[in-house]
Amino acid sequence: MEKEKYKFPDNFKWGTATASYQIEGAVEEDGRGPSIWDTFSHLPGKIDDGTTGDITCDHYHIFEEDIALMKELGIKNYRLSISWSRILPEGSGKINQKGLDFYNKLIDCLIDGGITPHVTLFHWDLPQVLQDKGGWSNRETAYLYRDYAEIVTAALGDRVKSWMTHNEPWVHAFVGHLFGAHAPGLKDLKTALQTAHHLLLSHGLAVPVIRKNSKNCRVGIVHNLEWIESSSKDSRDIEAAQRHDGAFNRWFLDPVFYGSYPQDMMDWYGDETPIILPGDMRIISAPTDFLGVNFYTKRIIGHESHGNFLNCRQVRYPFMKKSDYEEWENNAEGLYRLLVRLKEDYGNPEMMITENGTPLRDHLIDGAVHDPERIDYLYRHMGAAWQAIDDGVRLTGFFVWSLLDNFEWCLGFTKRFGLIYTDYETGERIIKDSGRWFEGVCKNNYIEAVPL
Ligand code: FCB
Repeated sequence: MEKEKYKFPDNFKWGTATASYQIEGAVEEDGRGPSIWDTFSHLPGKIDDGTTGDITCDHYHIFEEDIALMKELGIKNYRLSISWSRILPEGSGKINQKGLDFYNKLIDCLIDGGITPHVTLFHWDLPQVLQDKGGWSNRETAYLYRDYAEIVTAALGDRVKSWMTHNEPWVHAFVGHLFGAHAPGLKDLKTALQTAHHLLLSHGLAVPVIRKNSKNCRVGIVHNLEWIESSSKDSRDIEAAQRHDGAFNRWFLDPVFYGSYPQDMMDWYGDETPIILPGDMRIISAPTDFLGVNFYTKRIIGHESHGNFLNCRQVRYPFMKKSDYEEWENNAEGLYRLLVRLKEDYGNPEMMITENGTPLRDHLIDGAVHDPERIDYLYRHMGAAWQAIDDGVRLTGFFVWSLLDNFEWCLGFTKRFGLIYTDYETGERIIKDSGRWFEGVCKNNYIEAVPL
């Protein structure tokens, strides 16, 4: 029997993604100032394996080799993030030219290699000096972010034409300010909600600045979004699932698309609701060109009186295909359903999958890494993307997380997500089987299953 092939639209953007703190290393080099992740990762007990991003993939020094590997694999799009404290070690004020030089070189090298850069301005590494003044819970940070966006886009905007203001504001606000598992390690709901509001505000403030400095560019924001189902038909479970969706998805989508927070969640949060000044929602809802969707899991949610801040609990079943990442269930159908839902509820916006991937316990054996499960995972999620496009979803790109194994935040080096294996002892890169498989996807613009 001939194998099924699913062909993607012409000009579909296949790419890979990374983030500054996870891959760069060189944390004290060329005038870079410390970020909250430097501080946090050095605190005892915060990172599962006691590691830090001090060196990680050492990409800062060997980015040319990494770009050469992308070229070898025929990867034509690359999503990277900028380290704010490389550009502005003090968070604001004096520009560190060497920091800008690094990104200038990186962008030029990508473009020379025929790779389109897609740049995220903030992927969680806030300059520590700004955290010392209250971080994102201080409204002033939103304006300083706008200034930072001004500097970066003025320097790179002639060549970079695809910009993402923020990566996953939910994670930064809640995991960093309510659950305490990410930098800056705080545990307070009101702070988390105020942080989320200022992240969104800063997004809206930056959009016109980016457009001014980068003619004919495309601007979007990246959210981590989940497909959520209720655990039963009991109204308490249904309401719990709606709350989880409200806190996780709608709280971040509605302001950007509709200029308002969801009323059910405003009611739920009550006194914890953030301070919102007149005009904020208009700023936040500045029109964007695409929505970046990071997708990793589907969640089944039920009611729990003494559950989390939403009175929710996550339901797990023995038949779920669990990933190697805590509570994530691998569920490609969830991606398909999410994309269709976003199309229906948010006016069919252009979207890109800005991250999707899975961690595996990869082993380097005789110079090779065989990771058929990752190929299967990617095939299914790309299949979900294909089906969504077939159903009229305006999906224009798919970026695999990640180009190479890297520092996975509070999980340190315990999780490997890369298409390329990183040997952290020697710094050596080894292309995994999934990397070779993705090479075929980029070349052919279709997906084809490989038997497990
Ligand atoms: C996302 C982050 C990314 C990476 C993946 C696994 O939440 O944006 O940096 O850690 O998860």
